[in-house]
Amino acid sequence: MTASLSLFPPPVSSYLSPTTAIIHLHALAHNLSALRTFLAPRCEILAVVKADGYGHGSIVIAKTLAQLGITKFGVATIQEGVALREAGLTGSIIVLGATFSWQLPDLIHYQLTPVISDADTAHQFAKELSPDQTPYPVHIKVDTGMRRLGLSPDALTSLLDSPLFQGSLVLESLMTHLADADSVDPAFTHYQLDQFQSMVDQLRLKGIMIPSLHAANTAGIVAHPQSHLDMVRPGLLLYGYQPVLPFATALDLKPVLSLVTKLAQTKSVGAGEPLSYNGIFRTARPSQIGILPIGYAHGYHRRLSNQGKVLIGNTRVPIVGRICMDMTLIDITDVPNAKVGDEVVLLGTQGKESISATDIAQWQDSIPYEVLCSIGPRVNRKYEPLS
Ligand SMILES: Cc1ncc(COP(=O)(O)O)c(C=O)c1O
Repeated sequence: MTASLSLFPPPVSSYLSPTTAIIHLHALAHNLSALRTFLAPRCEILAVVKADGYGHGSIVIAKTLAQLGITKFGVATIQEGVALREAGLTGSIIVLGATFSWQLPDLIHYQLTPVISDADTAHQFAKELSPDQTPYPVHIKVDTGMRRLGLSPDALTSLLDSPLFQGSLVLESLMTHLADADSVDPAFTHYQLDQFQSMVDQLRLKGIMIPSLHAANTAGIVAHPQSHLDMVRPGLLLYGYQPVLPFATALDLKPVLSLVTKLAQTKSVGAGEPLSYNGIFRTARPSQIGILPIGYAHGYHRRLSNQGKVLIGNTRVPIVGRICMDMTLIDITDVPNAKVGDEVVLLGTQGKESISATDIAQWQDSIPYEVLCSIGPRVNRKYEPLS
């Protein structure tokens, strides 16, 4: 027999993890279209694809959004921006998070757009630019109440008045971030938007014109139309969720991500037996227990121990005992036909049952953002095409 030599690695399917995040790109397109209809045609969209596209895989998500007409992308770090550039994304990539002076040469090399939040960084940045790279477009962030990154109103005025903005840098957008847009009480959001508007008015009085303003994340988009301004910055909404808002909205969204695994083993245990670490669950009846090859090292949070549910055989069954680093136990006593290799849905739909990231968030006392972003590199990503 001739040995077959190949330049390519063998097909990976035989050793891929049985745990897969299925990314429904048609749902992403649906959510974008719902957003555009809701906003249409007033605002530009800066799609937030940080944290590996909220766990969905930033490269495929950004490229799909680019195909759908998005030209601006938000990341948190230069590293995330470089990954997108190296993958061939040509649109504007805006680095929303903190930037340090030693990172500026890479930021310029990869033509990323910084969000300037302090005057020192603006000066250091201008020093890194060669004459053929100027004027370099930047966004500036002002702090209107979040008390995170951002310039104060006074610092903003003197920065924009400085010679830096007469040659080295050009202001593309002025932005702020809303701290309480998902709250029942709109007072703090109104206060922040008033602060933002009065900064803009003061700048106008000094003859400084701002080409574009943006403030709204998903909660701002959904709950505060007055925050839409020239551009919105949706993240969670694109992935099919809203923060847990105290009010219903008109937006029809579809979750983009499903998380599935396969049953690895089944076993019968008697009544009164402790399961998994520390025996925090004891069977109340003779039980059939299923073992799942997913644990907290995949991003399936340990706080789901004794709290979470999964779907198997079109039935919702409980997680029993402590979630381990690589494994989770479920009670399949009520699914008598369950067998090794059966599909188990951790997030998504099976038959008439479904589990959302919001459900999981409630079980683990968190938010859908954390549920999605936590799904780590141990989990395969499988992309279902746009159509
Ligand atoms: C500055 C900024 N804008 C927009 C977003 C997107 O927020 P959301 O996912 O709520 O739409 C984020 C995410 O945290 C952010 O940090």
